[in-house]
Parts: sequence; C-alpha cells; structure tokens
Amino acid sequence: MKASGQRKSGARVAEQDVTTLTEAEARAELERLAAALAAANTAYHGKDAPELSDADYDRLKQRNADIEARFPALKRADSPSEHIGAAPAEGFSKVSHAQAMLSLGNAFETQDVAEFVARSAKFLGLGEAELSFTAEPKIDGLSLSLRYEQGRLVQAATRGDGTTGENVTANARTIASIPQQLVGAPDILEVRGEVYMRHADFAALNAAQEARGAKSFANPRNAAAGSLRQLDPKITRARPLAFFAYAWGELSQPLATTQMAAIARLQALGFETNPLTALCAGAKELVAHYDRIGAARAQLPYDIDGVVYKVNDLALQARLGFRSTTPRWAIAHKFAAELAWTRLEGIDIQVGRTGALSPVARLQPVTVGGVVVSNATLHNEDYILGRDNKGAGIRGGKDIRVGDLVQVYRAGDVIPKIADVDLSQRPSGAQPYVFPEICPECGSEAVREAGDAVRRCTGGMICPAQAVEKLKHFVSRKAFDIDGLGAKQIEMFYQDDQLAIREPADIFTLAARDAANLTKLRNREGWGARSAEKLFEAIEQKRRIGFARLLFALGIRHVGEQAGKLFANYYLNWEGFVSAVRAAQDEESAAWAELLSIDGVGEVMARALVTAFAQDHERDSILRLVAQLEVQDAEAARSDSPVAGKTLVFTGTLEKMTRAEAKARAESLGAKVAGSVSAKTDLLIAGPGAGSKAKKAAELGIETIDEDGWIALVEGL
Ligand code: IVH
Repeated sequence: MKASGQRKSGARVAEQDVTTLTEAEARAELERLAAALAAANTAYHGKDAPELSDADYDRLKQRNADIEARFPALKRADSPSEHIGAAPAEGFSKVSHAQAMLSLGNAFETQDVAEFVARSAKFLGLGEAELSFTAEPKIDGLSLSLRYEQGRLVQAATRGDGTTGENVTANARTIASIPQQLVGAPDILEVRGEVYMRHADFAALNAAQEARGAKSFANPRNAAAGSLRQLDPKITRARPLAFFAYAWGELSQPLATTQMAAIARLQALGFETNPLTALCAGAKELVAHYDRIGAARAQLPYDIDGVVYKVNDLALQARLGFRSTTPRWAIAHKFAAELAWTRLEGIDIQVGRTGALSPVARLQPVTVGGVVVSNATLHNEDYILGRDNKGAGIRGGKDIRVGDLVQVYRAGDVIPKIADVDLSQRPSGAQPYVFPEICPECGSEAVREAGDAVRRCTGGMICPAQAVEKLKHFVSRKAFDIDGLGAKQIEMFYQDDQLAIREPADIFTLAARDAANLTKLRNREGWGARSAEKLFEAIEQKRRIGFARLLFALGIRHVGEQAGKLFANYYLNWEGFVSAVRAAQDEESAAWAELLSIDGVGEVMARALVTAFAQDHERDSILRLVAQLEVQDAEAARSDSPVAGKTLVFTGTLEKMTRAEAKARAESLGAKVAGSVSAKTDLLIAGPGAGSKAKKAAELGIETIDEDGWIALVEGL
C-alpha cells in the first residue's frame, strides 16, 4: 500500500542539521521521532488515512538513525530503529476458532452414499437400520461462525484455514438475517452457517458495478465473499447478503439431542434455516431427497452445489468424531459437474516442486458452470494417450491431440478436467502428443520410473522451476504463511541477484542482507519503505515455527500436512525427530522399524523422509534453514488424559465399540496407536481371542487391560 494524499504536520517541522544538535536537543528530537513513527505505523497498519508518504517516513527513520549514531547513549528503549514485529496484519484481525471449522468429504455417486451409510454403521457397530440422517441443500456461499455470549453477538469470523479466520464482526452486523440479540440461547453459542447472495441481488449488484465502471463478479459466491470481506462495513451494508444457519461450534449447553431438533432450535432463536431439510432413514431415502432437491435446484433463488447428509443423533455424531479435516458423521453429495465442448489449443508442461512434469491443456476459453475455463489438467503422459498407467483404456482409449474438440468439466472446486474427445472433429494431420523426455525448464533428463505414472525432472534444486515451486510451497498458507511473501514475490526474489531467495534459509537472511546491501528492497519497483519493512517484520514473526508446519513446509515428497502432524505428535521434539530419521537410514535399524510402526506411516513415506535427510544438498539446506529458526516442540495432545503420549496397541475382538472407534478415541486423547507390540508399547488392550500380541506383551512385561478396563480408563473424558 502506498501512502498518498494528505500529510500531517509531523513530517513538516523545520529540521535542524543533525551534526549541530546538542545532547538535550537530540534527546527531545528522538522522542518526537519515536512518537511520529509509531503514530505513522498505527495509521498505516490500521488502514486509516496514512499520515506520511513513504518518502517522509523513510526520511524520519533515517534522521532517527543518524541521531542515534551520533548519540548512541540516547537510543531509546522504544527506538524506531528496533521496531520489529507485533504489528497486526493488514486488513482484518485474526480469530482463532474455539472449535475448528472443518470441510466435508464428498460423494459423487449413489454408490458413495451407500458406502457412507455403511461406513458410519460399521464404525459404530450398529445396523444400518438403526441410523437416520438429515439431508439439506449445500449452499454455495462462504461459511461464517457467529459467536453469541449471553445472547449478544460478540464476534463473527470467516473460516480461514479452519483454525484461524478473519474477524468480520462489523460486516456481519449489517446482514439482516443475522440476529444481533438472542433470547433463551445458551450463554455461549457459536452458530455456523453460510453467507450467500440471491440470484436477483447478484444480478442487480453486477448491473450497478458495471454502471459505475467497476469490476463485476463471476458468480454469486464470489460476490458474497467479496462483499463480506470489505474493510468498510458501509460497503457490506449496501450489499444484499443472507445467512442460513446449519451447524454450531462451541456451546455452553447442548442445543438438542438430534441434528433435526438442533436446527429447529436455531430457527426458533431467530435464524433462517433451510426449508428443504428432511429426515431420511437410509441411503435410498437420502438419494430420493437428493433427487428432489436436484429437481428444485433451477427454481431456487440461490446457488447450491449438492446436498449435505448428517447423522441425526448427536450422541452418535460425537462417537463418530472427525478425521483430520472432515467429520465422519457428514458428507456432501455433489451435483454432477457441468460440461462444455471447446478446442484444445496447445499442451503446456509445468514442472512442480517434486520435479513432476504435468501437462496442462490450453483451451479456447469456454464457460463451464458460470466460470470461464481456459486450462484443464491432463494429469500425465498415459492420460493423454487414453490409458492408465497399467495400460488399461480410459475415455475408451481415445487419445487427446492438439487441435481436438474436447469436453471439459468441473466437479466441485477442483481444476477442470477433460471428459471426452470428439474424434469426428479431429483436424486432419493432428499428431499424437509426444511427451518431453527433457525438462523444459532446466534441460535435465526427465525420467519415468517403473510403475510411476509421472515423469520427473532429475535436476533437483538446480532446476529453477522445482526450486521456485518448493519456495512457493514453503511460504504457502499451511506452511510458513508469510504475509507479503506469496508466489509473485518468490518469483521476483528468485530472479533477484542482490537479494536472491534460492532456498528457504535465504528468506530469513533477507533483512540482514538488505541492510548490508546498497540496493535496498525499498527502492525496488513495487516496494516502498513500509512494504519492505512490513515484509521483514512478517518474516521475523515466523522464525518461531511449530514442528508440524516446518516439516510440511519442507515439501518432501509424500510428506504432506497430515504427515507433518503425525510425526510432530509422535516425536514431539524436532531434534529428536531428525536424529531418529537419520538413524533410520539403515533399514535394519530399530529406528527404521520404529518409523514404520507409526500408524499412518508406510514404507514409501518413510523412505522419502529418510532420503531427504540423507542427501547432502537437501539435508544441508534444511540445516541452514533450521539454524535460522526457533522450532517449537509439538505439545502432547490432551496431556490431561491418562493415555496422552502413550503408545497403545489394540488386539483381539472388541465388543462394545469397533476397532476404528477405539483407535479414533485413543488418538483424540493424545495416544499413539501402533499396529504391533514392541518395547515402546505402553499399554495393550486385549479383547477375547488375543493371540501372539498378548503373548509378546506378557513377555515384555507390558501392562495389558481388557475392553472394560479401557472404557473405564477413558470414560468421561
Ligand atoms: S455442515 C463439519 N451444511 O460446505 C462441517 N456445510 O464443503 C460442517 N456448506 O465448509 C458443515 N452448506 O461452508 C454444512 N448445509 C450445509 C452446508 C455446508 C454449505 C459448506 C460449508 C462447509 C463446506 C464443506
């Protein structure tokens, strides 16, 4: 953000030459400068009218530094030259959700619905007939969490990354269907639902935008999101948004015992709830209601993109619990994707962070489901050729050639794909696509290993595309999430000879290098003094980083976000983890066996991890990075539970719950669940029919309890 327009007095006072200042004058001047710069920072971060131009701000800062250089003893504790850090991020403040806002797993086919019902029943050890579900439209808007305390709306937050969202309270207060005050609500009540825009309102808004020469919105969801995330609530107020309540977060008292009754309660409290919500007995009834909603879809005044099914009994919902990012007790049944035919104009190859060469279809732009599509994924070589990597035909074995008429589809929010090729329209002379065997970015050989569908560049970090993609991943939202350092900036810094960022460690030396360099970042095009300084502050704030995030950020193949959490929860301490991984290089070692014994870790992941910490260049790059950081240990989850941090093994038959439920419960209480008994096992839970594991546990002197003992142990937690 560039400051412009009005300037206030602070910068305009006639300034005495620094070399002629007396000590008393210098002291007074340092005080004035500290106040002026602090006020400028506040105005800037708070997005009030900026008080100083970038140039004036710079000049004051320089003057402050000059005086400090002449009178080092006078340097203030709050000296602006030491100013790093606690400034709030630009825009909205952050809100951490008392309970995470999760997303939903998807079902596309009737079969997926039947499986959801069967899976839920199996997890609970119940018959399918014992379960009932709600079915309601999936609103295509953005989710919002409204927190009420003593009936008063105190906070509204967007979903964000699910853990931390944006504080949009002032904006939410302008939405007519959001009550400001509730009567008869629990003392603490977080109501969750969807903010959306009706079709007619969307059309009127776009017409008004166009009339003003402003940008129009691609679809109602974008319009709703753009309107809610306005920094000026007056703008939000002028935008016709609506809200459907369909879920809740933290509660001081339960709303009801069933989903259906809870929704009725929210309605009674004054929220709008969706009238197409129905109670259904099994997969067949769910699909019938899905068809009903599908038939009504075109007449609805707002967009929906599927139907959400939820287990009705809230006690059963609680038992089903959550996977890492989705509940086990709900699923979204999506409507079939929209299709459109268009011409394939070319095939580009993109090189990803793991070196994968990904073919991308360049399409003649076409509208699919309200969005203009000009690219689609072509997955890999075999996909283009119309076969999967085992040689079986896909699309009836039809290959895709440049010039072909292709059918494009979008399913949910995913990248568009190609469903079909019209061979009757193939231009004469269209040639089969020849997949490159040389990386188009760095010229290294691109090889395809046996059994792998993907061809990969062998250039590693010498391949600029791989290096840049790794860096982009490193700063991405679920990794280091550095404000002001996104994909665009990474590309710029990667190219920059003076302030190069070629590996993650370089990010954390940027400010120091900038200070030592003659060509400053603040003088670059697109950067001002304060944007440069803000970047340095944002980087500084991320020197303290959690174990799981750090591991995910490294972008090691097969080690994703979940794996990051898995290893963090298991090893807790980064150094301990690194030495365990290094010891595991020897596949005969106990360290290797331990790595594999972690539930959720397979050989492919373990090997990728070990390799990353064994290869000189990658390991050294990680070491250089970690030397710049303060890595925070993971906390043992729920340290108040008797099994937190313990390694458990279940064996034999459980009679009161399924194995899956027992395992999910143990993990939610902070325990690790292993598949086999070893010296590391703390507790064996053995049901009837326990065999070799129980014997081994007895030999090793490991405490063993039965299912009732387990229930008694975790009951009430
Ligand atoms: S229930 C624990 N019900 O869909 C999950 N979500 O893909 C609670 N959504 O983030 C969500 N309509 O923004 C639920 N009737 C509905 C919904 C709905 C739209 C959105 C919601 C969620 C996303 C998941």
